[in-house]
Amino acid sequence: MNYKDKMLRDGALKGKNIVVTGGGSGLGKSMSRYFLELGAKVAITSRNIEKLKGTAKELEAETGGTCLPVQCDVREYDQVESMRDQVLEAFGSVDVLLNNAAGNFISPTERLSHRAFDIIIDIVLKGTKNCTLAFGKHWINTKYTNTVVLNIVTTYAWTGSAYVVPSATAKAGVLAMTRSLGVEWAKYGMRFNAIAPGPFPTKGAWDRLLPGELKDKIDMAKQVPLARVGDHQELANLAAYLVSDFSAYVNGEVVTLDGGEWLKGAGQFNLLEQIPEEMWDQLEAMIRAKKNK
Ligand code: HXC
Ligand code: NAP
Repeated sequence: MNYKDKMLRDGALKGKNIVVTGGGSGLGKSMSRYFLELGAKVAITSRNIEKLKGTAKELEAETGGTCLPVQCDVREYDQVESMRDQVLEAFGSVDVLLNNAAGNFISPTERLSHRAFDIIIDIVLKGTKNCTLAFGKHWINTKYTNTVVLNIVTTYAWTGSAYVVPSATAKAGVLAMTRSLGVEWAKYGMRFNAIAPGPFPTKGAWDRLLPGELKDKIDMAKQVPLARVGDHQELANLAAYLVSDFSAYVNGEVVTLDGGEWLKGAGQFNLLEQIPEEMWDQLEAMIRAKKNK
């Protein structure tokens, strides 16, 4: 067994109907594939219907499951309600909402127009809010219980990060929403959790966060104590657990899956790893020599 293996037992998500925003590409596609393999029906949504149709066809062929492509810009509440109703019509019910859609790019904040800042806040925070309200109100009104909202955030939701300020601001809001509704809507039989992934290679993220030569200059694995980037299956394993009934007592939580990346950046003395082993004898002697002076 290793981290690239599939974790849950066959049929672990049988009977679950799942909506994955941004499910046509990247991590959303990988999580959708595993949900299908575990027996769920999955609706994938984003702005680009041709891309979604291609992904749905591919995932159905690979898994033998049912994958429904539905166009929806999460920034528009009317489109979100229409997407929800199309999925309900096709599947009869929805048990899980996975808020995965996002927009992001690196930029000095002073170079951003107010519209550029808005675009990220609108996709990430307003989009998550729109989907959460549309499905949450539906579940409350129909008294449909044992539902899950899983939000994909990042570790800079709590550390903040320069050069991706709109994304950090929006993801912080999504994390606050996760924890707040984990308490407020538990009485309606809903659970709210989040995953904060570290670096997982995807075209969408890499093209916008490491454009051009930056890809060769910045080795994301070097920032990770475990010295590697994430594998899509290990994220899919965690997501499948968190949307399954095995995690029935996990609520209001954010699970970090980053090989220790954010803590490496946070610890004030972590840079001492650059000190060669042989120098520690010398340093220890210098410190001990100060003891009684
Ligand atoms: C400055 C920019 C810009 C850039 C766009 N804008 N790109 N400003 N630098 N690089 C400005 C535009 O000029 C415009 O402002 C405003 O932003 C909207 O731009 P549009 O191109 O009209 O927006 P749109 O077509 O809706 O595209 C949205 C997008 C795009 C976010 C800009 O990148 C996108 O579609 N992204 C979706 C996928 C994605 O980003 N995936 C990565 C997720 S990775 P003006 O003022 O000119 O009108 C992720 C990782 C997190 O989240 C953590 C990693 C560790
Ligand atoms: P990705 O492939 O670019 O995924 C983003 C998805 O969001 C796309 O499928 C995109 O589809 C969709 N989307 C964008 N704007 C939308 C809108 N207005 N309405 C509906 N859908 C929209 O990138 P990814 O790396 O897989 O990212 C997935 C999630 O992981 C994001 O939440 C991201 O913040 C998070 N994350 C990723 C990493 C990483 O290292 N990759 C690290 C931390 C967190 P369309 O273009 O078709 O709309």
